[in-house]
Amino acid sequence: MSSIDEIKSRIDIVDLVSETVTLRRSGKNYTGFCPFHANTRTPAFVVFSESGTWRCFGQCNEGGDIFRFVMKKEGCDFSEALRILAEKAGVQLKPPTPQEQEAAEEHEHLRALLEEAVVYYRHQLTSTPAGQQALAYLQGRGLDDATLEAFGLGYAPNAWDGALKHFKSKGYSEHDLIDAGLVTVREGTEGGGSEPAQARRIYDRFRHRITIPIRDERGRMTGFGARILNPEDVPKFLNSPQTALFDKGHLLYGLDRARKSIRTLDQAVIVEGYLDVIALHQAGFTNAVSPMGTALTEHQLRLLKRFTRRIILALDPDAAGDKATLRGLQVARQAMDRQEEAVFDARGLLGYESRLQADIRVTTLPRGMDPDDVVKRDPAEWQRIVENARPVVIHVMETLAMGQDMEDPKIKSEIAAQVLPLIGEVPNPVERDTYRQRLARLLRVDERALLDPAQARPGRAARSRPAARPRSAPQALPSASAASARMALEGHCLGVLMRRPDIVYRLDRKLQQFGLARLSTNDFEHTEFQAIYELIQESLAQDVAEPLNFVLSGLSLELMEMADSLLKRSEKLDPNDDKVFEDVRRTLLDVRLREVRRLVEHIRYSMEESQQQGQPPDVEQMQVMQQYSRVLLQLYLALEDKNTETQNN
Ligand code: UTP
Ligand code: MN
Repeated sequence: MSSIDEIKSRIDIVDLVSETVTLRRSGKNYTGFCPFHANTRTPAFVVFSESGTWRCFGQCNEGGDIFRFVMKKEGCDFSEALRILAEKAGVQLKPPTPQEQEAAEEHEHLRALLEEAVVYYRHQLTSTPAGQQALAYLQGRGLDDATLEAFGLGYAPNAWDGALKHFKSKGYSEHDLIDAGLVTVREGTEGGGSEPAQARRIYDRFRHRITIPIRDERGRMTGFGARILNPEDVPKFLNSPQTALFDKGHLLYGLDRARKSIRTLDQAVIVEGYLDVIALHQAGFTNAVSPMGTALTEHQLRLLKRFTRRIILALDPDAAGDKATLRGLQVARQAMDRQEEAVFDARGLLGYESRLQADIRVTTLPRGMDPDDVVKRDPAEWQRIVENARPVVIHVMETLAMGQDMEDPKIKSEIAAQVLPLIGEVPNPVERDTYRQRLARLLRVDERALLDPAQARPGRAARSRPAARPRSAPQALPSASAASARMALEGHCLGVLMRRPDIVYRLDRKLQQFGLARLSTNDFEHTEFQAIYELIQESLAQDVAEPLNFVLSGLSLELMEMADSLLKRSEKLDPNDDKVFEDVRRTLLDVRLREVRRLVEHIRYSMEESQQQGQPPDVEQMQVMQQYSRVLLQLYLALEDKNTETQNN
C-alpha cells in the first residue's frame, strides 16, 4: 500500500472534518456549514463517508478528499498536507537515509539556535536600556507592539561579542554560530583598521541594528535581515549570509504569515522591502511578501504559485519608469549577489507567466513613495493601487506612452517596436488580440497595421508583418517556451471544456466543416491533459452525473491539483456562449497551427538537407509535406472563418 493509501485508510474523513465543522448525519452521509465560505443558512457542505470525500454544494462548489480538505483549511500544498496527515495517521513517509537524517538533525539544531536568537534580540529590544532607541524608532514608524511581536523584531546591541558570549554561555559552539550565520569570521591578519590584527577573529554579524527574523513558508527560522539605526552605517540592510538554511533566492519574506490570506484572496502582492511587508500586514493587507534585496527568481515565483497563481508586483515608479526594459523590483543592489539571478524585464516576466501559468500584474506606486508610506497615508489608496494592477503588456505600453507625443510617427513606431514582440509572446490568442487592439488604440493606428503574422493567410504574411518589428525578434519561439506556450494553450482549452463539455460537439462540427480532424486526445500533448480530456469525453457519454462532477470524481489524486488549477483558470467564463466557443475554437486552432508549422518546418529542413547531399527526393516525405500543407491551409481558412462570423467590433 502506498503511503497515500495508508493515510487514507487510517484517517476517517468524518473525524477529520468534525474537528472544524459540526456535522449532522443525513442518511449515509453527513452535512454541515461549509468552513470555507461565510454561510449560516444552508448546510451545503456534505461529507461522503463511504468514498472519503467532501463537497461544498454552495458557493465554493469544491470538493475532494482528506488531503484537499487539509490543503484548503491550512492553505498549504499537497506535499505539506501529506506531511500533516502522515503525522496524524502515524504513517512514516519514505524513511530518510542516514545522511538525510543527519542533515535534518543538523538543521533542527540550527533552527533551535536561531529561535533562541530571536528571543535574545527581542529581549534586547524590549527590556534593555540599549534597546530603547531602536524601540522608539520602530514605534515612531507607526508599528504597534502586537506587530513587533508577531514579526519578532529585535535589536542587536552595539557590541562585537554580545551574541557570541550569550550563546557560548548557553552551550553553543563557535561552529554552530558560524553555521547559523550569526557571527562573522575573519581569517588572516590583513585586517588593519581599528580591529586588533589577529590570526582569526570571530565577532557578531549584527551590531546596532534592528533584527528581522526571516522564516520559511512553514514558519521555520532561516536567518535574519538587519536594518541600520545609524543612518551613516552601511549597508542599510545586512542579511544573514548564505547558510544551510538561508538562501535568499528561495525564500520570500512574510510568506509564513501571508500564505493563508494569499490562498483565501487567491492573490499575492510582492513588494520590495521588509518594512513594507510589515506595515501592510499591520494595516490588514496580509497577502504581502517581499524578496530580500535581490531580484525575484523563478524559484520564488514557483514557491508563491503553490498558494496562488495571481501575483501582483508593486513596483516603485523608478523601476517602472525604466522605459527601455521595465526593470523589475530593483535589480542587483551593489552589495549582492549571485549571477544566476534571472533577468527580470518585461519579456522575462511574460516568460515566467507562461511557464508558470501564472497571472502576473504590475502596479505602480506614486512617485517617491513605497507601500509603507502609501498604506500609512491612506489604506484605501493601497487597496485602489492593487486593484488597478495591469497585465504586464499593458503596463509596458502605458509606461512607454506616458508623457509622449502620440502624434509623432517616430515615437509610435518605436513603441510598437518594443511592444509587438511582447504581444507575440503572449500564449493566449484571445489575449493577444486584445492587447493588439489596445496598442492600436493607444497609438491611434489601424489595427490591421499591427496584425499578427501568425494569423494572416500564408500569402499575406510577408506584407502584413509590422515594419517596426525589430529584426532580432525571434521568428519562432525557442523550443522551451514554445512548449510551455503550447501547454498554456492546451490548459486553457481544457479548463473551459471541463466546465462546458458540450462545446466539444460544436467544435467537432466546425472542424469537420473545414475538413479538419475532430477534437481528440492527440490535441493534448501532456499525459495529464490527455487523461483529463478522456474523462471529459466519458462525461459526455453518460447521464448519471453532471459532467463536471463526473470528471471531478473520476480524477486520480495526482490529477486533482492539475484539474483544480485548470478550473481556476476558467472560473470567469464569458456568459456569452458564442464568445466562449469562439475562444476555445481559436485557441485550439492556434495549437494545431503551431504544431503543423513545426512539422512542416522539420520536413522542409530535412528535404533541403537531402537535396544538398545530392540524394533523390523522398517520395513519402513529399506526400507527407503535401498533406500537411493542405492541413495548414485548412487551418488558416478555419481561422479566417471567425472574421466573417463574429467580426462585428
Ligand atoms: P529599501 O531601502 O526600500 O528599504 O530597500 P525599506 O524596506 O523600505 O526600509 P525603510 O523603509 O527604508 O526602513 C528595500 C529592500 O531591499 C533590501 C531589503 O530587503 C529592503 O527591505 N535591501 C536594501 C538590502 O538587502 N540591502 C540594502 O542595503 C538595501
Ligand atoms: Mn521603506
